[in-house]
Amino acid sequence: AENIGVRALEVYFPSRYVDQVELEQHDGVSAGKYTIGLGQSKMAFCDDREDISSVCLTVVQSFMEKYNVSYSDIGRLEVGTETIIDKSKSTKTVLMKLFEESGNFNVEGIDTTNACYGGTSALFNACQWMDSSAWDGRLALVVAGDIAVYASGNARPSGGCGVVCMLVAPDAPLALEFPLRGTFMENIYDFYKPNMSSEFPTVDGPLSVTSYVRAVDYAYMAYLEKLEKIDGEKNASLDSVDYVVFHSPYTKQVVKGFGRMAYNDFLRSPDAPQFADVQQFKDIAREDSYTNKVLEKAFINVSKQTFGAKTKPSLLAASNIGNMYTGSVFFGLASLLTEVSSADLQGKRVALFSYGSGCAASMYSFRVRGDTTKIAEALNLTSRLDSRTKVSPSDFEQIMALREKTHNALEYEPQGDVAQLFPGTFYLQKIDSMWRRAYGRT
Ligand code: ACO
Repeated sequence: AENIGVRALEVYFPSRYVDQVELEQHDGVSAGKYTIGLGQSKMAFCDDREDISSVCLTVVQSFMEKYNVSYSDIGRLEVGTETIIDKSKSTKTVLMKLFEESGNFNVEGIDTTNACYGGTSALFNACQWMDSSAWDGRLALVVAGDIAVYASGNARPSGGCGVVCMLVAPDAPLALEFPLRGTFMENIYDFYKPNMSSEFPTVDGPLSVTSYVRAVDYAYMAYLEKLEKIDGEKNASLDSVDYVVFHSPYTKQVVKGFGRMAYNDFLRSPDAPQFADVQQFKDIAREDSYTNKVLEKAFINVSKQTFGAKTKPSLLAASNIGNMYTGSVFFGLASLLTEVSSADLQGKRVALFSYGSGCAASMYSFRVRGDTTKIAEALNLTSRLDSRTKVSPSDFEQIMALREKTHNALEYEPQGDVAQLFPGTFYLQKIDSMWRRAYGRT
């Protein structure tokens, strides 16, 4: 198969959000902390009517209906998520419910988990299956997303909720550049979920932030090395890519990640003209640079214009929804297709940076080689974001408290109002005496 990659994608996010300005006031933090400091404007959330299975059911069914794809045409379905409600039964098996009517049970793939990175691994797996002798000619679906919730406190405003469904196929308008990848993985406790009785992660915030930029460094360096070795590029740099889409825990982190790419370009070519004003950072050791705020600001400044052109258009969903863990980087892709016209995207290289705490990170790229107008129209992202309902911070807190209290509940009937959900949304009807979950659809 030729030009394997993403042929189409659909997203789902909840119908309700909390406004970050109102949350700043409610939390009693200084004005601007969440909106400027984190770069977030709205945060999506769901009540006890939705869980990871329901949001995945919603996005897959919505994708199949919008694109009129038959469940019999799918030979592989992978799920990347870190929202775990069962230590054994995968979300993928729940999604097989949707295949029942078609009679197609011959579907490979299972869940992949490591913090925000599972979707990237799932996408690689699906593309590689299609590129291999194991491929039987059918299409693949990759589902990635999470319900990102934090304990109340300073991490809470960096939550969110969203899930994406991508169709992996040959002759894709977003063709994966297979050999062009750089990966960085190491053993670190920055964000993890060891407490099985809680939905919340255990977070070392400052460590997660430096780990993210370290991963940008090493994944980017490895990516550039591949560009030079395989593509024969000389002095590969940010100029070699047209767009960079990042995993976004909050958009300010993405600004820092982009600045870090510029810093790496500087270390490789310190005499390049755009670096005339930052020569004082030449002799700082890389390992000492991670906590250097002056250096961070200087490279954010140096890269400001390039950031505006190459990355800002991909942040529409992230700033309006919040973190979506495994789904975040693909919502970035959906935002880019929304904000940049198909004509402008033609022939362009779109690099993606995926970071999952713990940690696992990759930088890789797509080449745009087909019309993206229909995808953008079907996504209808801007008006869907605008059609949501705002909820007050105190109501939001009550809903979070309800989720916390009923997490892992047995023989439970959710209290959330089904009428609040967008049409076509799957919702949890009940959990029975053996923890079996039943779902309905609005
Ligand atoms: N106006 C403008 N900016 C402000 C204001 C204000 N009134 N107040 C604070 N700020 C700035 C700070 O200077 C800081 O900027 P900097 O990052 O450039 O230094 C920023 O806002 C955040 O303020 P902090 O005091 O550092 O925030 P805090 O420590 O309370 O929380 C944190 C931030 C650690 C990121 C927290 O939200 C968290 O733990 N989130 C979860 C972990 C996370 O998302 N990590 C990212 C990578 S891993 C992943 O994807 C999960």
